[in-house]
Amino acid sequence: MEFELTTVKEISETSRKYNLHSWSAQGQLKPKVMIGGEGVYFWDGEGKRYYDMSSQLVNLNIGHGNKKVIKAIQDQAERLAYSSPSFAIDVRSQLAKMVVELAPDNMGKVFFTLGGADANENALKIAKMVTGRYKIFSRYRSYHGSTYGAANLTGEPRRYTCEPGIPGFIKFFDPYVYRAPLPFPSEEAACSYYLGQLREQIIYEGRDAVAAIFLETITGSNGVIIPPRGYLKGIRDLCNEFGILMVCDEVMTGWGRTGEWFAVSNFAVKPDIITFAKGITCGYAPLGGVLVSKAIAAYFDEHFLSCGLTYSAHPLGCAAGIATIEYYKEKGLIGQAKERGITLGKLLETLKEKHDCVGDVRYIGLFSAIELVKNKVTKQPFVEYGLDPDKTMKKVIGMLDAKGFYTYSHENSLLVAPPLIITDQELEDALSIMDDVLNDVDKMLD
Ligand SMILES: Cc1ncc(COP(=O)(O)O)c(C=O)c1O
Repeated sequence: MEFELTTVKEISETSRKYNLHSWSAQGQLKPKVMIGGEGVYFWDGEGKRYYDMSSQLVNLNIGHGNKKVIKAIQDQAERLAYSSPSFAIDVRSQLAKMVVELAPDNMGKVFFTLGGADANENALKIAKMVTGRYKIFSRYRSYHGSTYGAANLTGEPRRYTCEPGIPGFIKFFDPYVYRAPLPFPSEEAACSYYLGQLREQIIYEGRDAVAAIFLETITGSNGVIIPPRGYLKGIRDLCNEFGILMVCDEVMTGWGRTGEWFAVSNFAVKPDIITFAKGITCGYAPLGGVLVSKAIAAYFDEHFLSCGLTYSAHPLGCAAGIATIEYYKEKGLIGQAKERGITLGKLLETLKEKHDCVGDVRYIGLFSAIELVKNKVTKQPFVEYGLDPDKTMKKVIGMLDAKGFYTYSHENSLLVAPPLIITDQELEDALSIMDDVLNDVDKMLD
């Protein structure tokens, strides 16, 4: 294959002319050209090197250029590039077995999708089919995908274009303790407040009306909000009390990001359904899925599963998934994420101590965020929720970018979630760039 577009300028300009890019007004866009990547680094069209400190979209857990996964996709393309999902094929069967065996032990079967949003779409349908109910609870500070159902699950502003929404989709408040309206004396006190409110809300909606509570096990793009101790167990108890299905969205947190195969294992909780995507193939091929409990799997022995996608369990995705899981195991990357997370946590705490602009740092495994404030004592946000007319956060991202630190932000938070293969030294070097930039952000405070 020969590339028609040879110069960096040509690639960028052609992209501006013909590609519609996500989540942006198109006119002012100047898409960065990426020419390649290796490990935790990638290079732009000018040959400048970046630390990929968001693992692209928190999916590239094994880093760029992984030869094992590339080879597995190549081999699968030669053997059998496509088969309709109704066929049993070796990689499809094998990956399903691997996924179920790595999941909490109450899980029984998996339905494969192409990504996270369609995993949540299918989880929504499954929850409604199994319970015969239609109300769905999810949280305000959440992102569950951009297709219509997943966007209705989503609580943050990316939901607005899909409103007026689907009837029966109800939002509740997150246990975002750093910004709680009350100064809770303990994590337990925070849990009893938030869970108490939720219990009341469920009752007001009808004790037997709610099909499912969807929640990101750890809120991801909305600021890496880690639930207080006991919160997820409390959600499990509420679900048991009212016959509601607990659905954990592990699209971002699954596959080692938090130092466990699935983030629920950090909290010893077993949901009824887990959705996943991203780290199952690390973006080398599109794949997601819906894991269902043994009880739900048994339900569909007798009942019709009204779900289907032409590319469900695509052979290239399945081959990539098997190779990715094998790679995680061979390199011990899940345990390594936990260990490196200790280094990352120390570095982040130092940044918080040092910089006036850092209000909070939150981290677990290699999943973390730095929340910026105008005033550390009052916690005045660096930009108000949903309002950043001067594009201040974009400027901060630009300052990081200029120094070769690639990541993205949401509201006040800078995401730090490097590939799980990162070394301690690379972490220190990258975070020293962050330190430099935060010095400049300190100077931007009034
Ligand atoms: C928690 C969560 N759920 C769902 C999605 C949607 O996944 P996708 O973009 O693969 O559709 C994302 C994407 O970032 C996510 O972070």
